Amino acid sequence: MVDPTIRQRVEELRNTLNEHAYRYYVLDEPVISDAEYDRLYRELEQLEKQYPELISPDSPTQRVGDQPLEGFKQVQHEIPMLSLGNVFDEDELRAWDKRVRDLTGLDVVEYSAEPKLDGLAVSLLYENGRLTRAATRGDGRTGEDVTANVRTIKAIPLRLRTDNPPARLEVRGEVLMPRSGFEAYNAWAREHGEKTFANPRNAAAGSLRQLDPRKTAGRPLTFFAYSMGVAEGVPPFKKHSDVLEWFKTLGIPVNPLDKVVQGYEGMRDYYRWMQSIRDELDYDIDGVVFKVNDLALQEKLGFATKSPRWAIAHKFPAEEATTRVRSIDVQVGRTGSITPVARLEPVTVGGVTITNATLHNEDEVRRKDVRVGDTVVVRRAGDVIPEVVRVVKEKRPPNAQPFQMPQRCPVCDSVLERPEGEAVTRCPAGLSCDAQFKEALKHFVSRKAMDIEGLGEKLIEQLVDAGLLKNPADIYRLRQEQLAGLERMGQKSADNVLRAIEKSKRTTLPRFLYALGIREVGEATANNLAQHFKSLETIQNASLEELQQVPDVGPVVAEHIYHFFRNPKNQRVIEDLLAQGIHWPEIPDDAHRPQPLAGENIVLTGSLQSMSRSQAKAALQSLGAKVTSSVSKNTQRVIAGEKAGSKLVRAEELGVPVVDENWLLDLLDQYGVTPEG
Ligand code: IVH
Repeated sequence: MVDPTIRQRVEELRNTLNEHAYRYYVLDEPVISDAEYDRLYRELEQLEKQYPELISPDSPTQRVGDQPLEGFKQVQHEIPMLSLGNVFDEDELRAWDKRVRDLTGLDVVEYSAEPKLDGLAVSLLYENGRLTRAATRGDGRTGEDVTANVRTIKAIPLRLRTDNPPARLEVRGEVLMPRSGFEAYNAWAREHGEKTFANPRNAAAGSLRQLDPRKTAGRPLTFFAYSMGVAEGVPPFKKHSDVLEWFKTLGIPVNPLDKVVQGYEGMRDYYRWMQSIRDELDYDIDGVVFKVNDLALQEKLGFATKSPRWAIAHKFPAEEATTRVRSIDVQVGRTGSITPVARLEPVTVGGVTITNATLHNEDEVRRKDVRVGDTVVVRRAGDVIPEVVRVVKEKRPPNAQPFQMPQRCPVCDSVLERPEGEAVTRCPAGLSCDAQFKEALKHFVSRKAMDIEGLGEKLIEQLVDAGLLKNPADIYRLRQEQLAGLERMGQKSADNVLRAIEKSKRTTLPRFLYALGIREVGEATANNLAQHFKSLETIQNASLEELQQVPDVGPVVAEHIYHFFRNPKNQRVIEDLLAQGIHWPEIPDDAHRPQPLAGENIVLTGSLQSMSRSQAKAALQSLGAKVTSSVSKNTQRVIAGEKAGSKLVRAEELGVPVVDENWLLDLLDQYGVTPEG
């Protein structure tokens, strides 16, 4: 007989561990550290080892068995798992809403609005509160028994968090692999010569259909519930959203972005909102789902052949499309990097026509084996550069030749270099290569650098081609008649450009440093350099060691900065620029600046009207705040601008105070800080 106090301790440990899992996965509000969780877990493991008779299948230690499966058993779904009808634009959505209103006789219908999670549908059966079976959707009637694998997913409770569980409850939802986990898994797989996955969805599917659950256990899977199937001994619910709330109390994760909305307008706004925050999420969604919230109305509306009349998916425009590679060119970047680019037959992806896709570098082209004439799958997600995902090998023309990296720069004909151990091929000619020079100038005049409005990319190219710009300082020597003489340039636009050039002379040190285009010196580093050294002269004279004192400057970046300022050509350009009248205000000593926000972690979300996000960040930092990117319980304040997304929702969930732009402006006013950078 095991001592009752030990039995009690084991039960207590299980409850505590389950409670922490609930806080972590359902409430998204962990209260203990991972290390503390591990300590409790090990104590339980130890006790169960000593007293094996105390082991129960729903103990948190029992997620992973030690036997691979022979195969997957088939499971008949008692209630079929249906699919959803689709709409692809707002007109179709409006028409769908009208149909629902006509069928129900209501003026405004209440809907549950949910992200359409792009993973794998599963059914979880809880009998008397224990997870007894998990199955894939399969064809909707018959799925596969993936219980052993699903048990390894920590977000899925092995027992429901209630003393009074329903006799039988089938929870339906989506198993997902978070993007971050997907990237990490693929990196690991590449390193260990294992198979990588094309996208998180395939990764989730592949992991669930793994015959060895010990392997599934190593994959970062998670889960969100979205509906109920079999329900015996379940309290009566009036609304779908109430079912989802109940799930949460049982310890079953529900997507935090689910919302109740009213009528077509509510659905439309929700769709637009999800589209705007989609890229910020750590998992893929391919649209949103709307469900009539009233369960009695759902019943009344019933089902068509394959899908319910009470629900619809509003899909996002597809992010992948198939097209043909016309040619492969290489592009010369600002720092001489040579990027192979596939020129494509025009194709619409995500609602935008694309004709180019990046192939990143030589190794990538090799790995994907992209050839001229190939049919390829291209992808454009959010505002990232379109890329070639893979080649449809079956459609390759018989004479297609493997890609060869050119030996010489396509613009200045210099012999290209690819340093040992680096992925990037470079043109070594620097600013004497016209391509690099043009890119450097475009960078120099860009908004976050010298901010010369009206001096756009086309105009820079015209000016360089006309021989009017031989170094950046020539910008400040341009005359009205030279500009006005260019194609598509009238007197008036010429005057505007000249005025913008004049205005740009008054700048800030961080902007000027950033504009110089030193390798690896972005906005943030430029800012740090300026704050640290206070003057250009000190930066120019700083030693490698001194440079490395600056936050985010490691040995490599320090080398780039050091060599940049020791290059005589660069020295002459800087001198010339200053001689043209470029100047900036002195940087005040932080030591004398009050730090009212010292010790505060602040998160910025949405767009601000009066300054850029980087300006706001710098201003907050100058008052002592730490500006972080995600909201947690350690966040003291969230500053929300227009179109604030998931971070705002998160702040509201955690009860973190949210302030608006005016709060920031008042504070900056009070302490005499002007947004810079
Ligand atoms: S409800 C009859 N809700 O979409 C209701 N499904 O096309 C069916 N899905 O197989 C499911 N997110 O894999 C529902 N919030 C959500 C969903 C969702 C993703 C998937 C699910 C299903 C497919 C239907």
